[in-house]
Amino acid sequence: MAKKMTQFVCQNCGTIYPRWAGKCESCGEWNTIIEEDLPQKESPTATMGRGGRKIDFSDLRGAPEIIFRLKSQIGELDRVCGGGLVPGSVILVGGDPGIGKSTLLLQAVANLSKGVNKIGSPTKCVYISGEESVDQVRLRAMRLGLSEANVDLASVSNVRDIVATLDTPDSPDIVVIDSIQTMFIDTLDSAPGTVGQVRAAGHELIRLAKRRQFAVFLVGHVTKEGTLAGPRVLEHMVDTVLYFEGDRGHHFRILRSVKNRFGATDEIGVFEMTENGLQEVPNPSALFLAERRGNIAGSCVYAGIEGSRPMLVEIQALVAPQSGATPRRAVVGWDTNRLAMILAVLEARCGVSLANKDIYLNVAGGLKVTEPACDMAVATAIVSSLTQKAVPADMVIFGEVGLSGEIRAVPQPDLRLKEASKLGFERALTPPSRTDKKPKNDMIRVTHIGNLRTLIDTFQGG
Ligand code: TYD
Ligand code: MG
Repeated sequence: MAKKMTQFVCQNCGTIYPRWAGKCESCGEWNTIIEEDLPQKESPTATMGRGGRKIDFSDLRGAPEIIFRLKSQIGELDRVCGGGLVPGSVILVGGDPGIGKSTLLLQAVANLSKGVNKIGSPTKCVYISGEESVDQVRLRAMRLGLSEANVDLASVSNVRDIVATLDTPDSPDIVVIDSIQTMFIDTLDSAPGTVGQVRAAGHELIRLAKRRQFAVFLVGHVTKEGTLAGPRVLEHMVDTVLYFEGDRGHHFRILRSVKNRFGATDEIGVFEMTENGLQEVPNPSALFLAERRGNIAGSCVYAGIEGSRPMLVEIQALVAPQSGATPRRAVVGWDTNRLAMILAVLEARCGVSLANKDIYLNVAGGLKVTEPACDMAVATAIVSSLTQKAVPADMVIFGEVGLSGEIRAVPQPDLRLKEASKLGFERALTPPSRTDKKPKNDMIRVTHIGNLRTLIDTFQGG
C-alpha cells in the first residue's frame, strides 16, 4: 500500500513543515503545528504531462466592460466594497467572535433581496450558517425586524451538499457562508477549522462562485492576535478582505477593507450596534466627539483620515506620578512604539521630563488610529496633561513628528480642515504647508507649527 502523504501545517499562519515541531519558526507560536493530509494536486509526485491549449493574448487597449454592482443600500457597506457587490466576487469578512459579523451579513442579504440583479429579476439570496440552527437565525431576523425578507436559510456545514445545491443554472446571486471555519470537506481527515479544511473548503466555494457568477461572503473568525485563524490562507484567493473591528465595550463597529480587487483599500465604514442591529453612522466625527467635554487638560481633537474620509477623534492623555517600580505606559487605540518615540523626542529635543511619570493614552470611542499624522495631537495631549493647561476646545491638530522634533507635512490637509470647520472648529494647528498656496479654507484659523519646541513653548509660556 502506498504510504499516506502528510504534511505539518501551522494553524496560526499556514506555514508548512515536513516534520512536526513544537514551535512555528514563522510566527513564533507554540503547539500550533498539526499533521494534515497532503492535498492531492500538490503532491510532489504529481506530474502534469504534455498537451494543453494555446492561449489567445489580447492587448491592453479596448474599453473594459462596465462592472455591474449589486447594492445593499447600506451605504457604509457598499462604499467599503467599492460601490456594491460584483457578481462572481468573493469577500472574506474577518472579525472577533461576537463583534457582529452575522448580524451585518443578515442585514445585508435582507436588504439585497429587495433589489434586482443584472438581468432585472429579484436578487436571490442564500444564507448558510454552520454555526447556528435555522431557528436561531430566524430569531435574530425577528429581532432585527427582517422576518419578511426573501432570504433562503439553511444550517449546513458539508461543502459537498452546498456545491450540489448551488451548482445549478438558477443559482442564487448572493451567498453568505457563516463561517468558513465550520465548513468541511468529507474526503479530508482533518477537523473543520484546520488550515487544510479551510483552504480546501474555501477553494471549492470560490470555484463555485466564479463558475456560477454569484457573490459570496465568507465569514472568518479572527484570533486574538489579530490574524485570521486558518483563513489567512484564503486572503490571497479571495477578491476582497474586510475586517469588522471594534471594542466590545463600545458600540461602534468599523468595517475596514484591507484588500479589494474591485475598489479602494483602507476604506472604512462605521456602524453602531444597537438593540435593533447595526445602524449606519453617516457622520462618525460627530459621534466620536459626542461625549467630549471642552477645556480639559490632557485632551485634544485630532483631524485624521481613514480611507477616503476625514474623521475627527479625541485624543486623551493622562500624565501621573510614577506609582510602581518602573514608569507605566498604557496605550489604547494607538501604537505603543510610536508613543515611545514621541516621548523620546519630547525628552531629548524639547527638554520635557517624563522619566518618573506614568503615561496613559487613549483614543476616545474605541477607534484605532494608525496614521503618523496623529503624532502632534498625541504630543499636545501629553504636554497639556503635564502642564495642566487645556487645549482650546475649538482647535483641531494634525502633523507628523520627526526624530529631530520637526513637524512634517501629512496628506490631504484641506480635507481635514474642511471636516473640522463643518463640525464647528475654528482653529487648527498644522504642519507648515508644502506649497505657497493659501489654504482653501478661510473659515478656520490655521497656525503652522514647524517644530515641536514651538508648540511646547506656547504651553510653558502664557
Ligand atoms: P454576531 O453577529 O452574532 O457576531 P459574530 O457573528 O461576529 O460572532 O453579534 C452578536 C452580538 O451582537 C451579541 O453580543 C449581541 C449583539 N447584538 C446586538 O447588540 N443587537 C442586535 O440587534 C443583535 C442581533 C446582536
Ligand atoms: Mg456569527
